[in-house]
Amino acid sequence: MPGTRWIRLLTENDCRLEICTDPKTILSVDDILALIGDRCDGVIGQLTEDWGEVLFSALRRAGGTAFSNMAVGYNNVDVEAANRNGIAVGNTPGVLTETTAELAASLTLAAARRIVEADQFMRAGLYDGWLPHLFVGNLLKGQTVGVIGAGRIGSAYARMMIEGFKMNLIYYDLYQATRLEKFVTAYGHFLKANGEQPVTWKRAATMEDVLREADVISLHPVLDKTTYHLINPERLAIMKKEAILVNASRGPVIDEVALVEHLKANPMFRVGLDVFEDEPYMKPGLDDMKNAVVVPHIASASKWTREGMATLSALNILGKIKGYPVWGNPNQVEPFLDENATPPPACPSIVNAKQIGLPSAKL
Ligand code: GLV
Repeated sequence: MPGTRWIRLLTENDCRLEICTDPKTILSVDDILALIGDRCDGVIGQLTEDWGEVLFSALRRAGGTAFSNMAVGYNNVDVEAANRNGIAVGNTPGVLTETTAELAASLTLAAARRIVEADQFMRAGLYDGWLPHLFVGNLLKGQTVGVIGAGRIGSAYARMMIEGFKMNLIYYDLYQATRLEKFVTAYGHFLKANGEQPVTWKRAATMEDVLREADVISLHPVLDKTTYHLINPERLAIMKKEAILVNASRGPVIDEVALVEHLKANPMFRVGLDVFEDEPYMKPGLDDMKNAVVVPHIASASKWTREGMATLSALNILGKIKGYPVWGNPNQVEPFLDENATPPPACPSIVNAKQIGLPSAKL
């Protein structure tokens, strides 16, 4: 895990720390059982490993009461199993919002302007002079950006695309994104007052409306039963032939086999992917598609964010061991991230606090 603050915070509070140095990227259940051993108060784990009954009951038997994912998403964790074993489950929201949104924006630009294809062309020594039709892509200004899931990350991404590229917004979310709507309205007024075309927003009644109308679509839902294969052949078929689809949420949100077929049939349709259905693998054919930009799940990979994620996950464990209450607002985790201050005596984010009866901190 990046940085050293998380280590200091734990050891200065009398925790004995065991760091797994196994070169394997993904540990098996047996590997983790061996690491838990017969005495372990808490575990910080990664999103690549599934935590269910076997691990949570082993952790409980070893005296443990806390597990934290070093991630905001926790679809790898069976929270019900954690509840049954009385284990607090932590995650790391807030600290990766902007970093993840910036990567989604980078994928959007890379796909729109064909950056990776053009880079490969240069390196292959194929550039022999400027040509009017060389790597022609899509202009974003004045086009419509569609956001599916307008929570923290989806809203931050929308703002970047609206502020940066003067795109209009259409979004779909079960909840109204009031702050985002207000921002777009105010920014639209500002542009108009300066003699520029104002930007607009629309909350779509259905996801299909977003897919049909948007020129760029970025996916930001959580992964659960309702969002598995949210992008399927039928939904791909209603998107514009030259649309750009970006996914920095979770791979199984897209039916990746269907996506490969769609990319083959529609060379002007482009995709930017940070996540894959069967990580670390790609579905057959995806790596041949020039209209796909693919990166290895690096959306939260800025130094500040990754160090912050390590700190938050360590503080989730420490807070539970110390019997601290749970921080009331997981969107405002800055007080835990200030290198020059002692973090508040609270667990930054425990997703099952209510279910296992943990008290909330007064802010
Ligand atoms: C990364 O994918 C995360 O959920 O934090």
